[in-house]
This record gives sequence, C-alpha cells and structure tokens, in this order.
Amino acid sequence: MLGDYIDLHLHLLPGLDDGPAELEESVAIARGLAGLGFRRLVATPHRAAGKFEASDEEAEAALAALHAALADDADRQALGLAREYFFDRLLLEDLMEGRLRLLSESTRAFLFEFPMDAVPSEAREVIFRARSKGYRPVLAHPERNLVLGGKLDLLRSMVDDGVALLVNLGSLAKLYGRRERRAGRKILDAGLATALASDCHAAMGGLAATADGIEEVERRWGSEAVRQLLCEGPRRLLGED
Ligand SMILES: [Fe+2]
Repeated sequence: MLGDYIDLHLHLLPGLDDGPAELEESVAIARGLAGLGFRRLVATPHRAAGKFEASDEEAEAALAALHAALADDADRQALGLAREYFFDRLLLEDLMEGRLRLLSESTRAFLFEFPMDAVPSEAREVIFRARSKGYRPVLAHPERNLVLGGKLDLLRSMVDDGVALLVNLGSLAKLYGRRERRAGRKILDAGLATALASDCHAAMGGLAATADGIEEVERRWGSEAVRQLLCEGPRRLLGED
C-alpha cells in the first residue's frame, strides 16, 4: 500500500443524504479510509432537488461534529467539504448565482453527476456555461452512466470540453456490476480518468469495495497508476500540483 491518498468523492457526513445516518458510522468510515492510506477526505453530500436538499450550513455543522469526534485519532485525515450536485435546477441556480460549494477555490472545480440512465440534452450547454464562468466541472462515476459508460468517443469529447472524469474505485472492484467494471476499465485503459474516488456511502461494504478497487488498480495498471489517480490527479483538481 502506498498511502497519502486523497478522496474527492464520498458520503461521509451523518444525516444529510443516503450516506451514514449516525456520527459513529462517519467515524468508522474515516478511520477505515485512514487505514487504507487516505490522508485527505473531501466529503461530498448529495445536493438534488426534492431529494437531498440539506444546506451547506448543515453540512458544515456535520463536518465540525465529525472533526471533533476524530480529534483524538493519531492518524486522522484532513477533512474538507464540497457537494455532489445532481444535474438539475439546484445545480443551475447555484452555478448561475456563484454559490457552488467547490472542491477547490483555486481550480473552481465542482463535482456533479448525471442521472444513471441518461445524459441530459442541455448538458453540453451547461458545461460550456460553467467553463465560461471559470469553473472546472468534475463528473462523478461516468462509468456508471448507461449512455456514457464504455463510449470512449463521448467521454473523450466531454474531456475535450473541459470535464474531468472521476471514476469510482468500487466500479473496478465490481461493486455495481460487470458493465460498470468493463466501462471503468476502458476509461482507465484510455487514460481518460483524472482521478479515482471511493464514493463511499457506508462502512459496511463501502470500505471493502474501496480496498478491492485499489488492489485491482495496482494489479492491473500498476502502483504508478495508483499514485497518479489517488494522489497526483486529486492534487491537480485541488490546484496543488
Ligand atoms: Fe456520490
């Protein structure tokens, strides 16, 4: 295990979305990821109209509680907060009003996701609008999208439009299914992924899938790929390279 990893996509904070319900589980996830070599975690609670509408202030309060709970941990990680924006009106509003909760102020990177079964027709226009405002869109789990999945030409044109692709470790470990794993492999083979992330939602299952994903990347693409996708790539998205 190399360590020093950075996770830019996970559901770590309690009671905000479909991540952990209780603080104890948040602590277990943070400790589990520390044990796997993650030294920085950026919690990305969902933000989706009508479903997950917790405010950034609520998320900040949850982050502070987790921070306090981990205060005595010798190997506690640096914790940050961003959001995973579902592609809907809340994203558009936050984008147009300049109040997106970013992965990084310096790169203006923000994390978003499409519905699993479609790429909305207005996606390209919104991406262009975001780029013209200086934002760096980061697409969560492109390998899980039924339209994008293994279609390298579509993914390449998104990358050319300025979108960074953040693949889930669990997809490579067959957490979701063979289709997702195949699509994830194609994206990594083609060198289109900027980084990998855990997208961990629960201690049970999520940590094991993350560990298996790291192992699979090391086995199939080598330890340099692990370093690129879990250290260098995230650092680039944070503007720290
Ligand atoms: Fe997620």
